[in-house]
Amino acid sequence: MKILIIGSGGREHAIAAAVKKSKRVDKIYCAPGNAGIGQLAECVPINAMEFDKLVTFAKEKEIDLTVVGMDDPLVGGIVDEFEKAGLRVFGPRKNAAILEGSKAFSKELMKKYNIPTASYETFDNAAAAENYLKTKADFPIVLKADGLALGKGVLICSNLDEALDGVKTIMVDKKFGSSGDKLVIEEFMTGREVSVLSFVDGKTIRIMTSAQDHKRAGDGDTGLNTGGMGTFSPSPFYTDEVDRFCKEHIYQKTVDAMAAEGREFKGVIFFGLMLTEKGPRVLEYNARFGDPEAQVVLPRMKNDIIDVFEACVDGTLDRIDLQFEDNAAVCVVLASKGYPVSYEKGFEIRGLERFEKEDGYYCFHAGSKLSNGKIVTNGGRVLGVTAKGKDLKEARANAYKATEWVDFDNKYMRNDIGKAIDEA
Ligand code: AMP
Ligand code: GLY
Repeated sequence: MKILIIGSGGREHAIAAAVKKSKRVDKIYCAPGNAGIGQLAECVPINAMEFDKLVTFAKEKEIDLTVVGMDDPLVGGIVDEFEKAGLRVFGPRKNAAILEGSKAFSKELMKKYNIPTASYETFDNAAAAENYLKTKADFPIVLKADGLALGKGVLICSNLDEALDGVKTIMVDKKFGSSGDKLVIEEFMTGREVSVLSFVDGKTIRIMTSAQDHKRAGDGDTGLNTGGMGTFSPSPFYTDEVDRFCKEHIYQKTVDAMAAEGREFKGVIFFGLMLTEKGPRVLEYNARFGDPEAQVVLPRMKNDIIDVFEACVDGTLDRIDLQFEDNAAVCVVLASKGYPVSYEKGFEIRGLERFEKEDGYYCFHAGSKLSNGKIVTNGGRVLGVTAKGKDLKEARANAYKATEWVDFDNKYMRNDIGKAIDEA
């Protein structure tokens, strides 16, 4: 088979590595890809939002299956364009990707179908939101821009002044663009967060092994929210009891709700869960693999990923027995100093060869490119150094050891990825 992967981050590198393991695959393309992906696949210089060019490319090369990794093209309807052209593609259509594309939509869905989540109100003008905050709100409170905002459109406000400022930032100043046309104001919840990824074929859902992300830039969960600074899998806090609760109240119910709304979901649903005192609650849905969750989940998957992708497309996921290794993985993100605000790019990355020789170690590229024959930094998040181990502690020690194999100027990482393991 010939496979086309769409995206350019660590997640797409992890997908490419899983696809590469399949005996059914002869050739992998990735658009636009990055320098690390380029070692497994042929990178094609087409942007993920250039749907016409991507469709033309897929037809020309007779691609058998296209896998969309990123949220923007999914929410923009790339799957519909591929299907219209008669091409096979893995991912939700536009009318289903709205599960991630609009927080107002996903909250309404959860309310209508009784899926546990924080209570909320939706607003389409700033005055009404301000009035609500002044008269009815308890603090802290959470403000969420409706649309995609690179994980940055969520503000936790500890008092009225902060919340009024937040409404201005999102709805008036439009810091997150048209994402802020609508605003969700949500009850603040506390508890541990767990990410659960799943494959869905429209009817059947198969849960992958759990993971936990670290969203803040600094040690001890301080500093700004980022795209994710590191992950571990499985989460020791995802107990059998939590699993049973989510299977009864969240997973299948979400898939059935989407189908009942005429929005059949095929692809990956990411459940961002908070384990509150009252039980698990949905924080958010994403319509694709998490990044960097994919970097710790996919290396532990035993199935041929192409079989699973095809089962989702064909509606035969009930025949797949999804299996994961009985071990653990930890991913530590190596970022550019200054991320997520401002940082320099273009520094040579040294020491990458070591990963080719070591089993159970991976260096997924998030922001890198080839420049004059050298691999250089090209983003805020640069590499996702991932290692497996027999348990979480061993995987964490291995991952931190491997962060020393690579070097570049302004290299920055958190030193406490997986610290929560010690409290489990
Ligand atoms: P989201 O993009 O909706 O996952 O939000 C980003 C982050 O904000 C989450 O991972 C949580 O850490 C935090 N967050 C979102 N919603 C809530 C909430 N209702 N209560 C507390 N924290 C929240
Ligand atoms: N790691 C969270 C996300 O992919 O949105």
